[in-house]
Amino acid sequence: MKLFLDTADVQEIRAWASTGLVDGVTTNPTHLAKEGKDPKKRVLEICSLLPEGEVSVEVTEQKPEKVYDQAKEIAALAQNILVKIPCHRDYYPIIAKLVDEGVKLNITLVFSLVQSLFMCKLGVTYISPFIGRWDDIDVEGKDLLFEIRSMIDDYTFETQLLAASVRGVRHLHEAILAGADVATVPLSVLEKATKHSLTQEGIAKFNADWATLGVKKFP
Ligand code: E4P
Repeated sequence: MKLFLDTADVQEIRAWASTGLVDGVTTNPTHLAKEGKDPKKRVLEICSLLPEGEVSVEVTEQKPEKVYDQAKEIAALAQNILVKIPCHRDYYPIIAKLVDEGVKLNITLVFSLVQSLFMCKLGVTYISPFIGRWDDIDVEGKDLLFEIRSMIDDYTFETQLLAASVRGVRHLHEAILAGADVATVPLSVLEKATKHSLTQEGIAKFNADWATLGVKKFP
């Protein structure tokens, strides 16, 4: 399972890149808007921080022909870029065209099994169901992950399942259980996932017990 960082914050990416656990980054217009002017510079910096990783960059145009041109421009920015396109009917023809032309796509804002099947049939690289946004309106987002996993496996599609809108450690746990190929996770969630009170307590107890020996060097 791959882990992507869900951010456009270079400091956060740098901090986690050194753990060896990060396989990529997913940006979106909201993340990039938070980081201020010059989103292109930011994207290039992110791509260079993770040369072996995959970096998703979303289109910001709306008209299909403009989305197509922008997708090509984004893809040409670096060899490790995937283009994010919203799962909207208007874009289906250009999604098919871009796939044909070898552009790697991450289809975003996916909320149903049927949308997922359509995108798998078009041969996109990733589909990103948003589990947190389903939970926001009191629907179990994780159910969609399980449904998509079965659909991909039943029909042997090559598209990979990317769990997005992961808001907490529980969502990450559910993405793992559902067999997601990737989870894109905010840094705050990853940090939280590294900690366990029983691990902390266990370390403290071992340290205290060891100290009773008074041994200065071991072994
Ligand atoms: C990543 O690809 C998505 O843009 C992101 O996970 C959305 O998360 P949110 O629903 O918390 O904004």
